[in-house]
This record gives sequence, structure tokens and C-alpha cells, in this order.
Amino acid sequence: MKPECLMMKDEMMYEPNGPMAAITPARQEGGRLSLGVCYYPEQWPRALWQEDARRMVELGLEWVRIGEFAWSHIERAPGVFTWEWMDEAIDVLGRAGLKVILGTPTAAPPKWLIDLYPDILPVDAEGRVRKFGARRHYCFSSRRYLQEAARITEAMAKRYGRNGHVHAWQIDNEYGDHDTVHSYSQEALLAFRLWLKDRYASVDALNRAWGTAFWSMHYNHFDEVELPNNLVEEPSPTHLLDYYRFSSDQVRAFNRVQADILRAHAPGRPITHNFMSQNTDFDHHALGEDIDIASWDVYPMGGLLNGRLCEADKARYLRHGDPDQVAFNHDLYRAVGRGRVWVMEQQPGPVNWASHNQSPADGMVRFWTWLAYAHGVDMVAYFRWRQAPFAQEQFHAGLLLPNSEEDQGFHEVKTVADERRRLPEGERRGKAPVAFVLDYQSRFATRALPQGKSYNASAIALDWYSALSRLGVDVDFIGQHSDLDGYKLVVAPDLVIADPGFIERLKAAPAKALFGPRSGSKTEDMHIPADLPPGPLSALLDVRVTRVESLPPFHTETVLYGNESHVAGGWRETIRTAETVLATFDGAYRNGSPAIIGNARARYVATLPKGDLLLKLMEDSLTWAGVETLPDLGDLRIARRGRLRFAFNFGMAAAEAPAPAETAFLVGSRMVAPADLSIWIEEGRPA
Ligand code: GAL
Repeated sequence: MKPECLMMKDEMMYEPNGPMAAITPARQEGGRLSLGVCYYPEQWPRALWQEDARRMVELGLEWVRIGEFAWSHIERAPGVFTWEWMDEAIDVLGRAGLKVILGTPTAAPPKWLIDLYPDILPVDAEGRVRKFGARRHYCFSSRRYLQEAARITEAMAKRYGRNGHVHAWQIDNEYGDHDTVHSYSQEALLAFRLWLKDRYASVDALNRAWGTAFWSMHYNHFDEVELPNNLVEEPSPTHLLDYYRFSSDQVRAFNRVQADILRAHAPGRPITHNFMSQNTDFDHHALGEDIDIASWDVYPMGGLLNGRLCEADKARYLRHGDPDQVAFNHDLYRAVGRGRVWVMEQQPGPVNWASHNQSPADGMVRFWTWLAYAHGVDMVAYFRWRQAPFAQEQFHAGLLLPNSEEDQGFHEVKTVADERRRLPEGERRGKAPVAFVLDYQSRFATRALPQGKSYNASAIALDWYSALSRLGVDVDFIGQHSDLDGYKLVVAPDLVIADPGFIERLKAAPAKALFGPRSGSKTEDMHIPADLPPGPLSALLDVRVTRVESLPPFHTETVLYGNESHVAGGWRETIRTAETVLATFDGAYRNGSPAIIGNARARYVATLPKGDLLLKLMEDSLTWAGVETLPDLGDLRIARRGRLRFAFNFGMAAAEAPAPAETAFLVGSRMVAPADLSIWIEEGRPA
């Protein structure tokens, strides 16, 4: 006899669609803060579900995400579905008043599936198969896996697509986590060759693009091409770039199959995917076109330790996190979601997976929730409801301790749930004056050919963003496809592969532009432009880059800017220009060579400015573009959402919120304590 859990529920006895209820249409929400939590009913005795759901609602939560790792619980053996527990879980949560976000379970294929089709497993760059036993053990190029992922998604979507308690869907979980976008399997190789045929049509075109005249790399047929791993020396950078592009397309195609199934069976329910902080392994703008809401997972403590800051600053912000890393991602994913962004997993206390796992300061869970809302996020869900006393993440906090007692995060969520009543509804994040370009092709390009071990495009972009934030300026992210209307300044710190069409549109727009070094330095084929870098930027600026150098971290360059000496480092270019020279290099090597140049429309920076030089450059550029700034905010950060103004204190000393005299604060007060915030309304000044 089959154990109870493997028995199929009699379909006639259960109404798979649950009670029909009005579902919020995909693009109508927003303007108020909703809260939620990630929950794993399959990990807890059923006896707990009811009480858990009741406590969630009492806490003020409205959303609950379930199911994203539940495949082996809903299909214990091929075709043997055990829906009954999930039916009940959705019912219990829904009847308690929670809206369910249902995850498709494809981030964790079950063991029986892997045993049936071992080719699903991904292969690492050394050619080793990555085994079953954790998660994300699939290759995006496995056709079998694509079919299986479609099959389980369709089965779930048919069963729950019209369920009145299921209000949204999450596809898979964190594409790219555990370095899983790139796989070097036999199927990836075959798919890559097809992708290349499609891109180049003729092998001669590929030979030209990849520069195979170099080192006798010429190909006679597409079928001779290999994946760019395990080589004696580095591959052609165009080979690598194409492999990164291909891998990115595979992720999008994989996601698209599930999105299409969900659209067919779950009408009106928004579809999301939970992205990761600053992952650039695939084109997030492109994938964002296939979903309704971008969500991302906010783990600021790990973000700090893995991040850009020096050790002294990491020590300083140990329990508050990098003051800009989280906001950067909120702003980025707001663009990826074309205005709609959620936090699907908010760190509720210490986690388990970083190099070290310090506790956030008390107050930070509340702080991060309001930070998200201030940056346009409409829903924040905490990961997770209860700390698991078993398995990989037993050191990871939840809102509850393993014994169901309330932990610190729980109390902070309660505070937020109460505080939100003091805020008016309907306040939406407006358009920012500054557009910040994040171009994924350019990130692939610098990864393919970094030309310096310490060159880190993500850290550079965050440094530039941080300088803007310290001046109190709101930022929208854009890609090269984006509309430029309404922006006063476009900032592009690392636009390596500049699309000539984008530069033309920029030229036609009223916005001014600020470009970082390496901008326009490679063509679409990853060659040096025929008329030298910055290639297409010459439509805006009369400048030619004649030499580039990467510089080790122990060395800095001196830059004279406004009669003051400043510091730059990591990268330096020698340029020839007819434009106004705004700053020069000062020192024994090529003394006086231009470091920052510009004209009435655009500026180009031939190095990586550090510290006060970067701040000064931003301040001057904002003034030049007519963007209002605040004096350097230090550890305070400001954000605007409609008429609402927020001040967040990341520092260790109290700081003053830049609010007009006589302001009546909705939350907090003029003096903002460390790890605390204030909220007020600025009437007559919509964002
Ligand atoms: C995320 C992941 C979750 C959980 C969490 C722990 O990356 O999506 O499933 O593992 O990390 O912090």
C-alpha cells in the first residue's frame, strides 16, 4: 500500500481552484506598504499551520510565499502527485486572510528526476558534474529539464491558477545563485553552436568577430566550436562574450516557458522572479520584460562583507550595512520591473551563508522595510517565518525562533505594521532627475576582458551611485533601450559597449551625460573601435583614447581638479581631446594629461575618481545639469516617494533630517538616531 503522502487526492473531492475571489489585476496595485513572509508548510507539522497563519495575520502580514522548493513533496515519484497537503496549506493560509504567492518549484528538481535523467545536472568550468544534494542543480540548456520544468509548472498552474487564494506567482528562485547560470555540459555546447549559427549565419562572420586570425584559431564549421572552458590560455574575449550572451539568453528562454504557461492558466495574477543583489550573469532588463513585477532578496549583512568597502568601513557599518548597496538594488529592480518592485526575502536577523554572519543592529529590520518602501517597493516579505532547527540554514534567523517564540524581527515588523497607518496612501515614487545606466552587455565585456585583477565594475557603479546618494539625489536606472524623457543627467560609469543608437538618442535628448572610463571602448564584437575609443561617443565628444592602463590597489594617481589635488586609482587613460579640460593628472608620468574633459552636453572621465574627487565630480555635474543637491549627507540618506520624505541614518551618531522648519514628522523626529529613520511630508513638492 502506498503511504498516505503518496496517495493521489480524489480530484472530485477537492475544488482545485478554491473559492473564486477577485484578484488584483496585474498592474493596479501600489501606493501603500504591504508586508509578507516566506513560509514552508512542508517543513512543519500540519498542527502548526493554522496557528502560524493566525499569527501572521495578527502581525499585519498580508502575503505569504510558499512552494518554491516543494517539488519532491508534490510529486514524490514520476507522475505521482501529492497535492493534498498543498491544497490544505493554501486553504489554511487563504482562509486566514493571507494572499498566497506560489513559487514554481524548479530551483530544486527531485532526486528521482535526476536519477532518471542525469543529464539535467550542470557541469562546472573544470568539466565536473555538479551533483544532487543542495539546490539549483540543473543546466539551463538541458532540453529534458526544460520539458520537466514546463510539465510541473503546468500541473501546478492548472491546479492553482484560478485559486482564489493564490494572488501571484514566483518563477523558480534566484537565477544565478550558487554560480549556476554558466554550465559547460554537452547540451550547452550543442545549444551554443546553434545560437552562434543564428547570430552569425556564416562561420566567416564568426571568424571575423572572434578574431580567429590570431593564434591560428580559424574555424571551418560551427560544429568545430567548443565552449570557452578548460583552455590552455584565455579564449578570444568575443568567444567568452558570446558564451555569456548565450547563457543569458538561455536563462531568459527558460523563464519564458514558465511565464507563458502561467499566463495561460493563472489569468490576472502577476508573475515575478526574485532576483539577487547585483548579479550580472544574465541580462536582467531583458528578463524583466517577461514578468510583471521584479522582486529581489535583501541580505545587507552579507552584501556588506562581500562588498566594495574597505575593511575599516566594513567595521564601521558592520551592523547597519553599506549605506547604498540596498538602495542601489531597489532602484535597479524598480527599472527591471518597469515600475513595479517587491522585496521577496528580507533578512530578519543573522543569516548563515556569508563569510561571517553578524547580527544586524536592533531596529534594522524595521529600517530596511521603510528603506524599501521609500525606494518604490510596494511589498516586503521576510525570509523566513520560523527559523529551521534542521538542515543547511539552521543558523538563519526567522521572525520566530525554532520554538515559535517571537524573535527580534517579529517585534520590528509589528512596529512597521503599526507605523504605516500614519502614512497617507497612494504616494508613488516619481521620476528621478538622474538616469543611471546599467548595461549587462558591458558587464559581460569587462568580465571577458577585465585588463586588471582589481577592476570591479559593480563596485565602481556602486561608488558612483553612492556619491549621488550622499548629495540627496534620487536615481532611476535605465538600460540602453530605455526612454530618456524627463532626465536632466544621464550617468554611465561603465558603458563599455555603447550602442550608437543610444548615443544618438542621448544626443537628441535635453539630458546632459557623464561617462566613466572605458565607455565606448569596445564594439558589439568586442573589438577596439576603428576610430579608437570611445567609439560612438565621438558623436557627443571630441576625444580619442590612445592608451589605457590598469593600476594596482597599492598605487594612486593625483588629479588636479579646481586647483585642488585629489586621488584617483585603478584605471588611467591617456586621451587626446579638443574639448575643455576640467581636470588633469599631476605627477611624473605624463604630467598634465587630461583626466576629466567635457563640453556643453557631455563629460568624460579618464580615470576612476576616489573619495572626495568622486563626490566633487558628481556635485559639479549635477549643478551643471540643473539638478538640485543637498550638502554631503555623510551617513544619512534621503529618499522621496510622492510627497513623503524619508531620512535614514546608517551612521553611529545622531544626525539631523533636512526637513523644513516646523515640519510635523509622521514617523520619528528631526534628530535621527543611529539605525533609525524619520518620515515627513513636503507639501507642494511632489517628487
Ligand atoms: C536566498 C534564497 C533562500 C534562502 C536565503 C537565505 O538566497 O533564495 O531560499 O536560502 O537565501 O538567506
